[in-house]
Amino acid sequence: MARILITQRLVDGGDAVLRASGHEVLTRDADGPMPHDELVAAAAEVDAIVCMLSDQIDAEVLASGGRLKVVSNVAVGFDNIDRTAAEAAGVAVTNTPGVLDAATADISILLMLSARRQASAAEADLRSGRWTGWAIGDHLGLDLTGATIGLVGLGRIGQAVSRRLGGFDTTVLHHTRHDTGRKGWTPSLLDLAGRSDVLSIHVPSTTDTHHLINAEVLAALPDGAVVINTARGSILDEEALANALEAGRLHGAGLDVFEGEPVINPRLLASPRCVLLPHIGSATISVRRAMCEMASQGVLEVLAGTTPGNLVPADA
Ligand code: GLV
Ligand code: GLV
Repeated sequence: MARILITQRLVDGGDAVLRASGHEVLTRDADGPMPHDELVAAAAEVDAIVCMLSDQIDAEVLASGGRLKVVSNVAVGFDNIDRTAAEAAGVAVTNTPGVLDAATADISILLMLSARRQASAAEADLRSGRWTGWAIGDHLGLDLTGATIGLVGLGRIGQAVSRRLGGFDTTVLHHTRHDTGRKGWTPSLLDLAGRSDVLSIHVPSTTDTHHLINAEVLAALPDGAVVINTARGSILDEEALANALEAGRLHGAGLDVFEGEPVINPRLLASPRCVLLPHIGSATISVRRAMCEMASQGVLEVLAGTTPGNLVPADA
């Protein structure tokens, strides 16, 4: 019998697979990241850790355990886990790819529509009582229909966004480092930006993608473009985005992820043209349950000595 630590409360029933496994399950009955010292101490005593993207699984945590075999992130992204340290310590890492693609792509589309049509600013007017009645010149936004959308990255989520955009009569381009062989591939990120009414980020957070969308890329966007980020905050230079918004260069932005989560850049908070969501890309009941199940399966397979399909490869 192995001992499994769950670092934060899961969705209702999310621990059912682990509880049914016969292993000992230790649950920290709280939301939010597990304090680092508690995590280091707990890691020394367990065979497996089920954690969230807000838990920092660093070298100290990974090196603390003699018996730790697997860290299972209830997320598709794994930039919160020190992969090099995990490999050195012989600890497997698993994630939850696939099950959240549709839900996250939906939020990308929601943000595109909200930012183009300025839905948040319009709703704020209504709620504050500033709206006094229909007027032909009020709350004028930009169409999504007919726009050119530039996808930065074309993984599973980027492809799901592209499929959805087919319903909006848009032109969809994408930039990836290697030729995808698909229509719309644009080898240069700056060229993509220069043609994009909507620039939407769909790459993972790595050292290569840190501030990939910087002042130079934002300056290449046509006037009145919008920037969408449902990937990771670190990919977009938020100060550069705030400069572009404050200068009136961009029509708006739609963000579900932030550089200093959960602290939000005050300049973005102050920008009515920025639609801000609290990292809800995968937040549906069914998807969050599926993520918990997939994370649990990964743990059980590693403990059973088999290679799970959701193992994060060493060079990912
Ligand atoms: C959410 O951001 C995830 O990585 O699953
Ligand atoms: C708008 O509500 C319209 O009827 O045109």
